[in-house]
Amino acid sequence: MRSTLRPARGGVARARWTVPSLTVVFHPDTRRIGGCARLVDLLDGRGAAVSRLEPVFMDPGALSGEPLAHRSVSRRKLLFEPRGDGVRLQREAGVGVSVSGAALAAPRDLSAEEIERGVVIELGDRVVLLLHRLGPPAAPLPRFGLVGDSDALERLRADIGRVADLPVPVLLRGESGTGKELVARAIQQASPRAREAFVSVSMAAIPSALAASELFGYAPGAFTGASRGHAGYFAQAHGGTLFLDEVGEAPPDVQAMLLRVLESHETQPLGSTNRAKVDVRVIAATESDLDADVREGRFRGSLLHRLAGYQIALPPLRERRDDVGRLLSYRLAAELKSLGELRRIADLAGPDPWLPASVIAALARYDWPGNVRQLCNVARHLAIASRGGRPVHLQEFPPGLFGESMTARLEPPSGAGPSRRRTPADTSIPSNGELLAALRSNGWRTSATARQLGISRTTLYKLIDRHAAIRTARDVSADEIRRCKAACGDDLEAMAAALEVSPRGLLLRMRELRVD
Ligand SMILES: Nc1ncnc2c1ncn2[C@@H]1O[C@H](COP(=O)(O)OP(=O)(O)OP(=O)(O)O)[C@@H](O)[C@H]1O
Ligand SMILES: [Mg+2]
Repeated sequence: MRSTLRPARGGVARARWTVPSLTVVFHPDTRRIGGCARLVDLLDGRGAAVSRLEPVFMDPGALSGEPLAHRSVSRRKLLFEPRGDGVRLQREAGVGVSVSGAALAAPRDLSAEEIERGVVIELGDRVVLLLHRLGPPAAPLPRFGLVGDSDALERLRADIGRVADLPVPVLLRGESGTGKELVARAIQQASPRAREAFVSVSMAAIPSALAASELFGYAPGAFTGASRGHAGYFAQAHGGTLFLDEVGEAPPDVQAMLLRVLESHETQPLGSTNRAKVDVRVIAATESDLDADVREGRFRGSLLHRLAGYQIALPPLRERRDDVGRLLSYRLAAELKSLGELRRIADLAGPDPWLPASVIAALARYDWPGNVRQLCNVARHLAIASRGGRPVHLQEFPPGLFGESMTARLEPPSGAGPSRRRTPADTSIPSNGELLAALRSNGWRTSATARQLGISRTTLYKLIDRHAAIRTARDVSADEIRRCKAACGDDLEAMAAALEVSPRGLLLRMRELRVD
């Protein structure tokens, strides 16, 4: 009987033909991680098999490849048979295989939807594969500093290449931690403005009262204490690129100011009668649904259209699980290097590795609500927890890295429930105590704290707002600042630590209150 397992077209975002494929998530020889094998025989209704000796996995970025070839993988076969739109998995006697975290005893049917999402297969106890769908191999594109070879990442690279040299504004949409800032910098680097300024400003961090002076600057004498004048972000980015991060958080009056400057290409510093032409390429980013914000009156439709000269959607990590192994090995190598223990990568090939394949398999099954940033945090944790070569265990992961309990969150998926993204109500959000501790240990710097907690700055601000014991610089009075200034001898960092507010917020508050 001829199979119906045919090349799939999966909606608008997946316009290319895809084939059931296997990608190496983990292999003791870490150079093999990321290699893939397209199981084209399945498309013709024929079966396919995986063993130590077949199929050939093309090495990442190479035109050649080889079979898994590791002694922990049996010479006997794991068989893949087409079944309707899905695949039946069956093992020859003696082959040790787990599928989605459960040992494969009897034949198991995987639906097309499961394969689309990605199925984690552990072969023996050392090799982890992902069964998923891949498009045909793409012509190599510039990498733009982005790690990953999934179809979704290749589409992202193609988008960056298409728009970089054009003078149009770009709107980057994507969940927290998907790499929006990295992509903004990649566009700038690939543009004719590569050697000019790249100015990054978080619209969530600018208080409405100071927005005009922050964005457009002020002239000397514009207000008491403004003896020197100040170039705003637009002037600082003149000739280069201005990255408006978290643009959906811009208050309404700031939205109006942005619209004006984007339309006129002119700015007027506070207290100045001169309007200055500015030549700035704007790249904006948002993790919120701006179309819904426009419908509900929170965001100006006209500003959205101005910002979205070209839109790029950044894929969440759970939709490109085949990149988990590649990103993890890249980040692990970086973390081990900074610990001076890079040689430990080679120990993964040894008999008793510090990073068991079962941990990697669990990470490949995980949903990654904090995306690549969360994965970077996990890699750092793994590198440090295994210092000196001590093996790491799933049960040991601290709460906060993955939410309440690592093991609960990494249980094999029971059904095909929809993937979730992190919201402030989610249990993977840090508790009040963790939030306070992280702010203190990072000197109340919001970017560093958000990075440590694996959340976006927008989420961090929301959590700070909801935390009764944490105030923001906006709540600090002029008197309190003066007293603290006298005690701390003008040292901004020390003042921020004493007042328990962010140094940048404090600086803005001092300017606002004219306490210089
Ligand atoms: N494809 C990638 N390759 C390598 N590193 C990546 C990739 N994507 C993201 N990262 C890293 O993940 C972290 C988060 O990326 P980035 O800050 O650009 O995300 P973001 O979308 O701006 O997040 P947020 O919305 O929370 O601000 C950074 O350390 C970045 O270098
Ligand atoms: Mg960002």
